[in-house]
Amino acid sequence: MKKVAVIGAGQMGSGIGQLFAMHGFTVQLMDVSSVILEKAKNNIKRSLHKLLDGDIQQINDTIQRISYHMTLEELRECDIFIESAFEDFNIKSDILSQLSSLIDQTTYVASNTSACSISELAHHISHPERFIGFHFMNPPVIMQLVEVIRGEYTSDKTFEFFWELAQCIEKKPIASKNSPGFVLNRILIPMINEAAHVLYEGVACAQDIDAAMKLGANHPIGPLALADLIGLDTTLAILKRLHKELNDCKYAPCPLLEEIVAKGHLGRKTGKGFYEYSEKK
Ligand SMILES: NC(=O)c1ccc[n+]([C@@H]2O[C@H](COP(=O)([O-])OP(=O)(O)OC[C@H]3O[C@@H](n4cnc5c(N)ncnc54)[C@H](O)[C@@H]3O)[C@@H](O)[C@H]2O)c1
Repeated sequence: MKKVAVIGAGQMGSGIGQLFAMHGFTVQLMDVSSVILEKAKNNIKRSLHKLLDGDIQQINDTIQRISYHMTLEELRECDIFIESAFEDFNIKSDILSQLSSLIDQTTYVASNTSACSISELAHHISHPERFIGFHFMNPPVIMQLVEVIRGEYTSDKTFEFFWELAQCIEKKPIASKNSPGFVLNRILIPMINEAAHVLYEGVACAQDIDAAMKLGANHPIGPLALADLIGLDTTLAILKRLHKELNDCKYAPCPLLEEIVAKGHLGRKTGKGFYEYSEKK
């Protein structure tokens, strides 16, 4: 199986596509926005130059393996489909419904969702036994971890397939139950929310909050800078799911986070979040 479709070419989708191409897979990257596809193409090129240390042959070979598309229909020939669109259940379930007519009992489908239930998403796809959560970290080409999440209908064969696939692309897989936030975000996102509360209450400025966690807890990046990297819309969506599904007020989103997202400041991708950036990612 060598042909991978990635649906959604934002910061995660473009990175996932690049990662597979770097490991010899043919990649079809799809997004509804031509602007995003163009941005993905440029970001991938820039990243490859950095990662492959200017090895023009290898850079060009990798670039050649990626094609860009605006309709799902064009992805028909792929063996593996990875959905990585906005963190919105309706958008994801709609994509899976549409994919149902393109896939058969030989293809595998995964979602890179951070917050949706894999079992609930599976209701929208034909062959739910071949559907799984395959959760990359940001940026996918750099971060080692992939969470492999079995839904209620995921078969052993599908789980084993994705477990091996993670190793093929040199990632370290961990297994998680289909529980809100899975493993990493269940721990990470409440910490980011707490950092937002510390800022909201005026306990310290953003720089000092991040410095506290970097210098005092040995984190490579502070929680507020990390939230900007993840995307504040995605961070808020995950928190809301933790709050709703675990039914515990400790997960209630900090009003400051809601306020910043409502203003359209989503972090690095819009140039402003807890911090301001000269360049959008
Ligand atoms: N940002 C992170 O740190 C991170 C980490 C792990 C997983 N994720 C998950 O990855 C997914 C994508 O997140 P992101 O940060 O790349 O978001 P993003 O906003 O950068 O990209 C989402 C992309 O989905 C596209 N899209 C929307 N509707 C679509 C459709 N119907 N068909 C095809 N494309 C469509 C948008 O045009 C956009 O380019 C989310 O589920 C998110 O929770 C994010």
